[in-house]
Amino acid sequence: MAFVHIKKDWALEDRLATPENVYMNRRYFMKAMGLAGAGALIGASAGCEAAEKLKVEMPESMPGLYPATRNAKYPVDRPLTPEHIAARYNNFYEFTTDKGRVHRLTDKFVINPWQIEIAGEVENPGIYDLDDLLKKVTLEERVYRFRCVEAWAMTVPWTGFPLKALIDQVQPKSKAKYVRMFTFNRPEQAPGMKSQSWYPWPYFEGLSMVEATNELTLLATGIYGHVMPKQHGAPIRLVTPWKYGYKSIKSIVKIEFIKRKPSTFWNKLAPDEYDFYANVNPQVPHPRWSQASERLISTGERVPTKMYNGYGEQVGHLYG
Ligand code: MTE
Repeated sequence: MAFVHIKKDWALEDRLATPENVYMNRRYFMKAMGLAGAGALIGASAGCEAAEKLKVEMPESMPGLYPATRNAKYPVDRPLTPEHIAARYNNFYEFTTDKGRVHRLTDKFVINPWQIEIAGEVENPGIYDLDDLLKKVTLEERVYRFRCVEAWAMTVPWTGFPLKALIDQVQPKSKAKYVRMFTFNRPEQAPGMKSQSWYPWPYFEGLSMVEATNELTLLATGIYGHVMPKQHGAPIRLVTPWKYGYKSIKSIVKIEFIKRKPSTFWNKLAPDEYDFYANVNPQVPHPRWSQASERLISTGERVPTKMYNGYGEQVGHLYG
């Protein structure tokens, strides 16, 4: 990001390639250790210890929603990122720019109750309780590749529902061509909003209507088979896996249907660096670094970046 400090020497000691079918089991570290062989023994032990220390705060949730059934339509060609790694490596500038500390700074952030305002060019505007919205949709689990513009990547199982399911309920008018979304604006609950007052808070993002209604576009309320922890954007966030991660706005409080392409948080700050569309593309470097490869946060390994992050089949036609 424009003002992100990237710790280039960041690397994990453990090389845990978590088998997908056992990720829900806390004991998967032991199994991964067995699969990884003796060379990974020390690192895997460190992983066990880290898992024990991991205190992901689990917000209240309606019983029975998690885990949701996995949608098998979106297979992924690499192992899941272990949860304790993804949960401690977050971009959530409202709290801090230090990825490793976001999860420690969310105590005061209130996520229950939660309401979402639907506004703009839409037949059914209003303020909706998240709990009521969730009663009208079916949650599913989707394992997606996730790629940050900073060239780190992970693979995580989100739980959520297609944004299209909400759009169908609120019925945008034909003149609505874009969707704009906003995060909360609560400096008293999010220390980064106070200490970094130069940012144009609240965080805001946007999609075209065809992107918003694409089958891949998810509103996620959970991850790793349980309700979303705060550091990942509880209680509800966007996930657009073919775009750089900054499009996936967290902790959404407002969705607005508009006629013209909106400005966005990062585009406003650095228009030459953070494009509105922000599709993952190995051939288009960021002005300050290459996008040809990405670093897996699970292992530190560098692997080639895929066009549209591997989702060309679902979204390639949108961009001609
Ligand atoms: N949403 C808000 N409100 N604030 C943020 O700082 N960071 C974005 C995105 N959504 C961000 C946000 C960026 S740059 C990334 S890479 C992802 O969140 C990171 O999501 P994760 O922490 O769940 O991995």
